[in-house]
Amino acid sequence: MLIAPSILSADFAKLGQEVDDVLAAGADIVHFDVMDNHYVPNLTFGPMICSALRKHGVSANIDVHLMVTPVDSMIEAFADAGASMISFHPDASIHLDRSISLVKDKGCKVGLALNPGTPLYVIEEVLHKIDYVLIMSVNPGFGGQTFIRETVDKIKRLKQLIVDKRLSVAIEVDGGINESTIKSAYDAGAEIFVAGSAIFNAKDYKQSISALRDAIKK
Ligand code: DX5
Ligand code: ZN
Repeated sequence: MLIAPSILSADFAKLGQEVDDVLAAGADIVHFDVMDNHYVPNLTFGPMICSALRKHGVSANIDVHLMVTPVDSMIEAFADAGASMISFHPDASIHLDRSISLVKDKGCKVGLALNPGTPLYVIEEVLHKIDYVLIMSVNPGFGGQTFIRETVDKIKRLKQLIVDKRLSVAIEVDGGINESTIKSAYDAGAEIFVAGSAIFNAKDYKQSISALRDAIKK
């Protein structure tokens, strides 16, 4: 299981240090929540933050979650800025197959992000072309929201679909992940866990990250 702290909840006044600290505290991937105040009612940051962190010396995987529309220009910009993984929302892309190919042509792992209200069939025809599915367990736009429990059943159904099709697509879950919600997502089949407030709101990042890892063993 991989832990991906969302920098949306980090202290942006010292972002480089925050990312260094969570990685030193045991995080695996850095989750970038990119919002355009169009696809979601919030505005965050652009590709320059990604290149700045690469220049700062961050070598870990940077998992860019695009909550923007249109997506293609941001796919290119974040790939050029050092993204390792890029996910986007199918309903935000003008041409799903073309956007998936663009991420792959730029050398990044490609994921599709599904809002709680978006059914699994939206990605059925392209599931074999992608590396991971980002299951949103909150409605996108903000950190610190409550985990939507119905998501657990959706993760189980997605896992079954992946098994039935004999694919090796990873399941990433995003939103409201903390010590009391992570185990249900893990047991349902999720392998990558985005956590923003559960990690960055804690004083001790090592403790909050190990608490997430320990919680799945209970
Ligand atoms: C919401 C973002 C999530 C969010 C997670 O639109 O995609 O990544 O920042 O934050 P928490 O873990 O606090 O719910
Ligand atoms: Zn996210």
